[in-house]
Amino acid sequence: MISAERIRTLADGARMPLLGLGVWQVPNGEQGVNAVRWALELGYRHIDTAQAYGNEESVGRALRDSGLGRQEVFLTTKFYPGHRDPEAEARRSLERLGVEYVDLYIIHWPQGGPTWAWPGMEAAKAAGHARSIGVSNYSVAELEQVLSAASTPPVVNQVQFSPFEARRRLLAACTAREVVLEAYSPLGTGRHLADRAVRRVAERVGRTPAQVLLRWCLQRGTVVIPKSTHRERIEENGRIFDFELSDEELGALDALDRTNGTDRAREQKWW
Ligand code: A2P
Repeated sequence: MISAERIRTLADGARMPLLGLGVWQVPNGEQGVNAVRWALELGYRHIDTAQAYGNEESVGRALRDSGLGRQEVFLTTKFYPGHRDPEAEARRSLERLGVEYVDLYIIHWPQGGPTWAWPGMEAAKAAGHARSIGVSNYSVAELEQVLSAASTPPVVNQVQFSPFEARRRLLAACTAREVVLEAYSPLGTGRHLADRAVRRVAERVGRTPAQVLLRWCLQRGTVVIPKSTHRERIEENGRIFDFELSDEELGALDALDRTNGTDRAREQKWW
């Protein structure tokens, strides 16, 4: 079981569990419902979905079926920036999810520029649709533009992050601005699990490669949202609070960075 104490307090005072289940590429329907159901049974209290994933209904179904109170689970969804109105789209998300509010609502990527959607995000928060608001796939420059235009600043920047995509300057800038960095694709969508250096550290600490990659994220100060549709993997990914990587092991993983300590959120943009 994952301890409820494993939380991060955001700049707006909200409490965000350090570990969540990410459901990118999890199909709507039985698979999606099962993944979220298992995660909640295994002690996860944080689920990360998005309008673009098309699986908010399944997330909502599993949440209702779990019998957990709404306030016990930290729920994130993301504004799809191909649409125009973040506040209206938040209401549609709430209908699909079958909840009164999400804990965190973030702009999925800065399509069309980093600032145009922010007033709508603030409106979604003011209307009570979201407790906290943030961004995703924002570089330092893009984050700064939002921060200087915002009445309510973003409290999270969710980006691709792992020892191989360590984005050191982006992490430092987020930390300095009280924006929590949330790591997506922490396993490199599975690709980093077979890496020799990762396996070596895993053998040394008697853990799995997935646990080592996730633990590295925690010790580097991020929230982390691994994805899996397999119960035993969801469980394995949850067992990351009962061991520590030494400075030497962290250093061996830091050496894998291929971004040259970048301040960017992506090497290539898809938008
Ligand atoms: P699956 O969903 O079939 O279990 P990321 O979180 O970086 O996006 O990585 C997700 C990918 O890694 C998925 O393909 C997932 O497969 C796989 N995965 C997740 N956890 C584990 C694990 N503990 N061991 C092996 N593969 C995993």
